[in-house]
Amino acid sequence: MRHKPVLLQEILENLNLPKGGVYIDCNLGDGGHTQAVIEAAIEAYGPDAGGITAIGFDLDKDAIERATANITSSPKVTEAIANGSFNPDTQLRLFRKNFRTLKDTLSKEGILKANQDDADGPGDTNSDASVADTNGVTPVTSVAPVADAILFDLGISSYEIDESGRGFSFQKDEPLSMTFGTSKRAPSVDGEIDHQFTAYDIVNTWQEENIADIIYAYGEDKYSRRIAKAIVDEREARKKAVAYESRDKNKPNEDIEAGIGGIRTTSELAEIIKKAYPAFARFGKTNPATRTFQALRIAVNDELRALQDALPQALEVLKPGGRLAVITFHSLEDRIVKQFFKEKAGEEHGEEDLVYGGFKPNQEPEVRLINKKPIAPGEKEVKENPRSRSSKLRIIEKL
Ligand SMILES: C[S@@+](CC[C@H](N)C(=O)[O-])C[C@H]1O[C@@H](n2cnc3c(N)ncnc32)[C@H](O)[C@@H]1O
Repeated sequence: MRHKPVLLQEILENLNLPKGGVYIDCNLGDGGHTQAVIEAAIEAYGPDAGGITAIGFDLDKDAIERATANITSSPKVTEAIANGSFNPDTQLRLFRKNFRTLKDTLSKEGILKANQDDADGPGDTNSDASVADTNGVTPVTSVAPVADAILFDLGISSYEIDESGRGFSFQKDEPLSMTFGTSKRAPSVDGEIDHQFTAYDIVNTWQEENIADIIYAYGEDKYSRRIAKAIVDEREARKKAVAYESRDKNKPNEDIEAGIGGIRTTSELAEIIKKAYPAFARFGKTNPATRTFQALRIAVNDELRALQDALPQALEVLKPGGRLAVITFHSLEDRIVKQFFKEKAGEEHGEEDLVYGGFKPNQEPEVRLINKKPIAPGEKEVKENPRSRSSKLRIIEKL
């Protein structure tokens, strides 16, 4: 089933994409928002969509394929392609890349150019903005902004939860992978690896203390220590059992090295977590595995740091008057966005746990907050799409 884009109306009403504008979707997914933005431009500006360019990022190769198919098969877009007014080769540019490489990818693709002042400056012989990567993150180089509207719709798509087979849901019995992109266990054809480890590696090789720390920090689960202990006890028992069996059968210990003795699937892990919960808390409204699964996913994909890295880049590539919209799905993400937006708007946010260094009283505002309080989905949307229920939208405009 196709992912239902969240807060779609609110996005379309607030992005204000002008004729000839450049839209960047940092979380392409099934392409729902991008498709709607292109269709709205066709509606507003005519069959060539007013010459807009839609750029999309997703780490998931399935997302790139699915979004391409979805967008180019929409009747409005198909018609525009058929009559030669919309050219998907130049007006729809999708990249299987982490959005934390936003500036770097746009530079390498020739979409972003170095700021003229910089390029002409003393000692600067480089005429384009492409620069070496450090840790997958772009070092700061001043660029001429290109984007009129940028959207982040964070997290995971319904396709990834329900159909990808990558272990994102405890309601399915799948291998514990939880990667958006390629990993050591499943590198891409060209050998590219986006994730050094999977949820399997965390659960089966990390120290108990470190497992507890991520469940607490990224899952905000107060039973983090009990869960981590249960995970480590169970995995060690399983490894011993396999070792014993292998010895009995005079087999080499390949099974252990192959990880067969560890905790292998989502169902196994969910069961361990459930048992680790105190009996009275096991059957509440929220499944005990929810928070641990969220924590593992955030850790595997380094989600919070990717967001932290990407927001300043997004603001930098945004043109004055351009808008940046971010949809978050939990408080850890929302806190990062709130701090960034408020600090750039020159407003105090009252948070102690600083992500961007905190409010500086004399700093000139760089942005205007479009909404002071985050926009939440209405009752109708939550009813039609329960996955939208925790979403929050914050929007800024660059001054
Ligand atoms: C909520 S879905 C987006 C759904 C999309 N807006 C739609 O309407 O179909 C989030 C997507 O972001 C991707 N994603 C998550 N973190 C990413 C990152 N750091 N870089 C690139 N893509 C990422 C996931 O693979 C997923 O496809």
